[in-house]
Parts: sequence; structure tokens; C-alpha cells
Amino acid sequence: MDVELLSSREGDTLFVARTLGRILERGDVVALTGDLGAGKTVFCKGVGEVLGIPADRILSPSFTIVSEHQARLPLCHVDVYRLSSEEEALDIGIDEILSGDRVCLVEWAEKIRFLLPPDCIKVTFSILGGDRRRLSLVVPDEPRFIAALSRMRHLVAGG
Ligand SMILES: Nc1ncnc2c1ncn2[C@@H]1O[C@H](COP(=O)(O)OP(=O)(O)O)[C@@H](O)[C@H]1O
Ligand SMILES: [Mg+2]
Repeated sequence: MDVELLSSREGDTLFVARTLGRILERGDVVALTGDLGAGKTVFCKGVGEVLGIPADRILSPSFTIVSEHQARLPLCHVDVYRLSSEEEALDIGIDEILSGDRVCLVEWAEKIRFLLPPDCIKVTFSILGGDRRRLSLVVPDEPRFIAALSRMRHLVAGG
């Protein structure tokens, strides 16, 4: 199932992230793709917030590849920007990270495209100008996602 959303401000992106965050379960992987400044880390803050992690604990310093947080569900926040190859990702144990018993958020996920689980949730951000972002979501065909997407109806692009 996929949907295109229009985010007109940071708050819209946080709304999408919080709405998705509320229905995430252990083992879910969210693959985030989009240019620098597109809103990937903002999205991670929104998910973290509904899991009980203060927004200021979710950062994406380029030198930290994996940050773990204990909350309502354990969260693993991964930023693979610095990795130069999928081999390097395998060297840091990315397959174990992605198959773990946590919610996993991956920034710059396109860099490890072939290592992502087939059923992962994909959020692709495009900067449209100013504060406007297009968010393309691809989610599994499961009732929890259908319910979450229906709560985002007002942001559906062109709808
Ligand atoms: N619609 C929007 N959605 C998300 N962030 C937005 C939006 N409009 C403006 N911004 C700003 O864009 C920046 C996004 O930064 P960040 O989330 O760190 O990007 P990334 O992690 O993709 O590099 C933040 O400063 C945020 O306030
Ligand atoms: Mg970031």
C-alpha cells in the first residue's frame, strides 16, 4: 500500500511520524530516504516522542551511526550517511541491527537498499521548496497501517 502526502510545515511531518509511531511494533524497520534537510531526523523525533523519548535525545550527528534508546519499545536510530558501501554496513553488523527485536529507523536508507527487509516501511522525502515536503509512504497491507494512513487523509497530495 502506498500514499503520497504533502507536508507544509514541520508539524505536518511530526504528525505523520507520531501517527505511524503509535502503531509500530518490535521488529519494524522504517527506511527513510531524502536529501539533507528533507526532514528525516524530524520524523525520527516524532516517532521517538510517542515511544517516550525526549526530542532532544534524537540527533543525527554524522559520526554516530547507531543510537539505541530505551522507551515503551526499544528504538534503534541508524544514520548510514557515513557508510561508503554495503560491505561496510555488513561490517558494523547492520543485518543484526535490522533483524533485532526493536523498532528501527534508518536515515539514508537508500545506501543500504539491498540489505533492507522486504517488508520494511518506506518513507521518501522530497523537498518541494520552502517548508513544503512530499512524503511518499510505502507500508505493508496490514490493518494497523490502513488505520494509520486513514488518519493522515487530510495530508494526501491532491486530495
Ligand atoms: N515540512 C517540513 N517537514 C520537516 N522538516 C521541515 C519542514 N519544513 C521545514 N523543515 C525544517 O527542515 C529541517 C529538516 O532537518 P532534518 O530533519 O535534520 O533533515 P534530514 O535529517 O533529512 O537531513 C529542520 O530544520 C526542519 O525544521
Ligand atoms: Mg538527519
